[in-house]
Amino acid sequence: MLRAVLSDIHSNLEALEAVLADVDRSGASEILCLGDFVGYGASPNECIERLRPIVTAAVAGNHDVAVCGRIRLGSFGSNAAQAARWTGTILTPQSQAYLESLPITVRHAGALLVHSSPSEPRAWHYVLEVGEARAEFETFMESLCLVGHLHRPGAYRLDGVTGQVVYSREPEIALDPQGRFLVIVPSVGQPRDGDPRAGYLLWDDGRGWLRQVRVDYDLAAARQRILDAGLPPFLGDRLQWGE
Ligand SMILES: [Fe+2]
Repeated sequence: MLRAVLSDIHSNLEALEAVLADVDRSGASEILCLGDFVGYGASPNECIERLRPIVTAAVAGNHDVAVCGRIRLGSFGSNAAQAARWTGTILTPQSQAYLESLPITVRHAGALLVHSSPSEPRAWHYVLEVGEARAEFETFMESLCLVGHLHRPGAYRLDGVTGQVVYSREPEIALDPQGRFLVIVPSVGQPRDGDPRAGYLLWDDGRGWLRQVRVDYDLAAARQRILDAGLPPFLGDRLQWGE
């Protein structure tokens, strides 16, 4: 089955609509979401309402948990904290209930879905290098773990014979049976890999591949909406840089 995996939408409705149009064209049968529906951007309720009826499986991100008041904002930078407080004031009761209903991890189609890291999914770690990835592989059993959080897509492969872990930024990954994989999914609404286009992942478990997809969207409109909401201008500007 072909599946679309979305992560880190961050209240960017323009990016989300462009991605969903592309998902439609791809023929994917399911949409999965790795969290951070909200935060940073100006359209939290719209993004939740758009995704809620169409996602098959989803987990909570740190921003989703923060805007519901379930973690303190002390670990957030000032712009992120300001956006989280603003989001908390405009969330509808239905949106808040949906975010509060999200689990922290889900097993789906043989894969583990988690926003940040499988070892401590409530600690919101980033998996930044091969040594950290090697330790993460010891904490889950599945052959594939899909994470978001970093906003910089990539994949770690653990070789089942040699024990070697290799990192790749190639846009297409072959899921060979000798490997186990920890894959960082692109961000829909706030990419930080230097490519400002919206991103998501296609996953074909039958054929055994993953493919990063990038999509142009109306970035100026998303930026303007952030400015109009009175959110920090930096949150709009960074969309242009993809950083
Ligand atoms: Fe995020």
